[in-house]
Order: sequence, then C-alpha cells, then structure tokens
Amino acid sequence: MTKLIVALDFDTLDEVDNLLDQLSDTVQWYKLGKQLFTAHGPKLIDHIKGKGKSLFLDLKFHDIPNTVAQAVRVSVASGVDMINVHASGGSEMIAAAAQAAQAENPDALMIAVTVLTSMDEQALEEIGLNVSPAEQVIRLAKLAQAAGASGIVASAKESALITENCGADFIQVLPGIRPSGADQQDQKRVVTPAEAAALGAHYIVVGRPISKAENPAQAAQEILKDIAPA
Ligand code: C5P
Repeated sequence: MTKLIVALDFDTLDEVDNLLDQLSDTVQWYKLGKQLFTAHGPKLIDHIKGKGKSLFLDLKFHDIPNTVAQAVRVSVASGVDMINVHASGGSEMIAAAAQAAQAENPDALMIAVTVLTSMDEQALEEIGLNVSPAEQVIRLAKLAQAAGASGIVASAKESALITENCGADFIQVLPGIRPSGADQQDQKRVVTPAEAAALGAHYIVVGRPISKAENPAQAAQEILKDIAPA
C-alpha cells in the first residue's frame, strides 16, 4: 500500500502550522528538508512529533561513516521515523547509517539517495562517472540494499528497473508526483499518484500540489483516493 508524505518546503513556522492544522485529519507523514531544518532546527521535530505525526528528515547525509552514523543516531533518537543518506558515500557509510538507525529504533527507515534527478549524463561525466544515470541508479540501489538500507528515493523513470533489480520489498520513495492536470512547476518528469502506486511506490512525496492548493485537505484527500488499493 502506498503512503502519502507531504513536503513541508517553507521558511516559517506559521506556514508549517497552517498546513499541519489543515491536514491534521488527513495526512500522517511529513517531510522536513534542508530549508526548514536549517532555519528552525530540531525544535521542529519535537513540534511535529508532538502532534503525533510521522516524520521523514530529508537531510541527505554524506560524510565519513562515523560522522554519518552519529548524525543518524541523534536524528532517530529525536523521534524521526525516516532519514536518508547519499548512497555515493559508499557501502561502509551506508552500513554505518543503517546500523545506527536500527540500534536506536528498529522501526526507523534508513533510505538512500542514488543519483540526484538534477544530474544528467554530462553532469555525471564531469565528476568522472562515464555511465548513464540509469546505470548509476541501479548500481547504487544494489549497493545500498546490500549495505542494509531500507530502501531508496527513486525517480518514477527508474522505479520499474529498481523493482526488477532489488525486489518489490525494497522501499521506494517517489517524488515528482502531479495529479493529472496539475501544474508541473520545475519537475521535469512527473507521474500521477495512481501511476506511482501502480509502479509499486511505498511512499509518494508531494509538496506544492497540496501546499499551494486552494483547499489542501481536499487536494490531499483526492491523492489518497488515487493511491488507495482498488
Ligand atoms: O512541490 P513538489 O511536489 O515538487 O515537491 C517535491 C519534494 O520532493 C521537494 O521537497 C523536493 O525537494 C523533493 N525531491 C524531488 N525530487 C527528487 C528528490 C526530492 O522533488 N529527486
């Protein structure tokens, strides 16, 4: 079953509270990223967890294994339910992160990021990788799985390939979701909530189609209806 995560991409606590209030009966999972976390820090984790919600801390850690493991440990200790690291940090770093998360809370999900969707073949070549983005995604997804990650952030484009290579139980978190007819904004390749669910996404991440909607609760309800099993 596919779950909905709403991205809290804001500057201010008022905007966060406004959306949380409107979605309180509808949405369980929220994503806290670099913008909001850098502005307001860990008190926001307490604030959102205090409302009984589940939280994905999207800080994409990438450092030496010990540093990443310690950052993961304190994140999970603070109540975060899902965290992520860059798979390109290597298997030792991914394993250290997975073990740190597991030791703190066996239910916490430790997700790896493979290739940023902003990077194309030329951008990979610039950093010395002479492979297609799809090849690199699969390589890193397999590495992350072998190192103990719970799953990966995937693009809809590579989702089926990841399922083929890593199995249907390896968690896929899919951003780039747009209900049919919605504004694509800066997302280059989008899928509808129903298409993401059909691809086997375990979680979809949706930001502006909900946060900028005239009626966010209604927008969220429509998405939930789309991803509900038939
Ligand atoms: O507003 P929108 O639905 O485009 O927001 C998508 C969220 O998912 C944003 O927080 C964005 O940073 C995140 N994301 C993404 N594409 C990725 C990874 C993360 O859009 N490849």
